[in-house]
Amino acid sequence: MLVGAQWGDEGKGKVTDFLAEKADYIVRYQGGTNAGHTVVVGDRKFMLHLIPSGILYPDKVCVIGNGVALDLEMLVNEIEGLEREGIDTSNLRISSRAHLLMPYHKKFDELQEQGCRQLGTTKRGIGPAYGDKIERVGFRMTDVLDDDFPARLETVVKEKNRILERLYDQPPYDCRDILDRLRACVDRLRDYVTDTSLLVNRALDQGKKVMLEGAQGTLLDIDHGTYPYVTSSHPTAGGACVGSGIGPTRVSRVVGVVKAYTTRVGEGPFPTELTDATGDFIRERGAEFGTTTGRPRRCGWLDAVILRYAARVNGLTDLAITKIDVLDEFERIKICVGYKRGNTMLEEFPESLKVLQDCEPVYIEMDGWKTSLQNCRTYEELPEATRRYIEKITELTGVPHCLVAVGPGRGQTIVTREVFA
Ligand code: GDP
Ligand code: IMO
Ligand code: MG
Repeated sequence: MLVGAQWGDEGKGKVTDFLAEKADYIVRYQGGTNAGHTVVVGDRKFMLHLIPSGILYPDKVCVIGNGVALDLEMLVNEIEGLEREGIDTSNLRISSRAHLLMPYHKKFDELQEQGCRQLGTTKRGIGPAYGDKIERVGFRMTDVLDDDFPARLETVVKEKNRILERLYDQPPYDCRDILDRLRACVDRLRDYVTDTSLLVNRALDQGKKVMLEGAQGTLLDIDHGTYPYVTSSHPTAGGACVGSGIGPTRVSRVVGVVKAYTTRVGEGPFPTELTDATGDFIRERGAEFGTTTGRPRRCGWLDAVILRYAARVNGLTDLAITKIDVLDEFERIKICVGYKRGNTMLEEFPESLKVLQDCEPVYIEMDGWKTSLQNCRTYEELPEATRRYIEKITELTGVPHCLVAVGPGRGQTIVTREVFA
C-alpha cells in the first residue's frame, strides 16, 4: 500500500511509477479526478488523474478500484490522451462497483463552494458524488447496464433538478442528455469493466505482486484529516482495503510518501505554513502549483507531528521521502517536532481545529547541505547533512525509509530498502 502522509501531492505518482517496475498489478482505491499524479519518464511528463501510475509499463495490470469516484467522460479523455502519446491502455480494468460521478455532482460542488461550504475544493464533484454514494442514491458502473437504469436515473435527476431550480436558481439537467453521454462512455469502456476485487484477490492467490496507490493524503482523510477541510474519501490505509476489495491480512507493507517539506492546497489549518519569502522560495523551487487546478500550493517546513500521526493511523512500515533536492540551497532547515499551545506542549496531533489553530510549531534546526542532490544515485553519495536530515525523519516518526527521491525523473530515486522482495 502506498499512502500520502501529508496533505496530498507528496509525489505518489512518481513513487508508484518507480515501484511499479517490480509489481504486477497497480490499483487506485479512492478519490477521483481531484487527484493529479505526475510521472516523468525521460523528457516526457504525464499527468494522471484516474488511471493508476503504473500505466506507463505495457505489461502491468492497472485497476480502478470500487472506491474511486468515476467521472466517465474524464476517464475516456484520459485514456484517449494516453493513447495519443502511444501508451497502451488495454491492461486497464475498472471496477463494476465503482460509483459514477455525474455532471450534476460537479455543478453542486461548484455551487456549494460559492455558498455555505467554502473549502477550496478542486470542483471535480467529489463531495457530492461520495455524498450520493453514502445517501444510497448513487449509481455504480454495473447499474448503468441494468434495464431499469433510465427510470432510476430519471427519479434522481428530477430531485436534483428541484434543488437546482429552487435552491440555486439554476437551469435543470435533461435526463436524456445525461443518459446519452453516459451510454457513449460505457460503450467505449465496457471491455475494461469487471469485478476487480475478484481479479486482485485471484492475482494475490497466484503470488502476483500488487500495489495499491492512494490519492490525496492522510490529513485529507474524511475521518482522520483536518475536517471539514478534507476530501470525501479515505486516503488512509484502511480505505485502501475497502476501496480495492482486499482484506487487511493480505497487506505486507504500508509505505507513506513524505515530501521533505509540507504543502497544502485549498483552505484549512497548516501549522508550519510559511507566508514569507522562504515559503515563496520553496514554491518556486519545488514547482508547487497544482497538477489538477494549477493553484499555487501553500508551503512550509516539514511537520513531524503530522508524520507521527500518519504513521499511527496508517500503521506505516516504510517512508518514501521525496523532493529532498528542493531543499538543496538552504543554509539551515527546520523541522517541527511539537506544538505549543500557551504554555502547554502538545505531543499528539489535536482533533479540534480550534486547538490546532492556536498551536505554534516548535522547531529544531538542522544544517543544510548547500549542494545539488539531483545526480546522487546511492545513499552513500548523499552528503552527510542530507543523510542526517533523513535519519532525523526516521527517528522522529519511528518508521524506516525505503526510498529517497532527488528529482522528478524515474532514475532520480535511491532505494534504501527493497519494497518488493
Ligand atoms: P502526487 O499527487 O502525490 O502524485 O504528487 P504531484 O504529482 O501532484 O506533485 C509532485 C510534483 O513533484 C510533481 O511535479 C513531480 O514530478 C515532482 N516530484 C516528485 N518527486 C520529486 C523529487 O524528488 N524532486 C523534485 N524536484 N520533484 C519531484
Ligand atoms: P493528489 O492525489 C492535494 C484538496 C483540495 C481541497 C480538499 C477537498 O494529487 O495528492 P475535493 O475536490 O477533494 O473535494 O477537495 O482536498 N485536494 C488535494 N490536495 N492533492 C490532491 O490529490 C488533492 N485532492 C483534493 O485542494 O483542499
Ligand atoms: Mg497531486
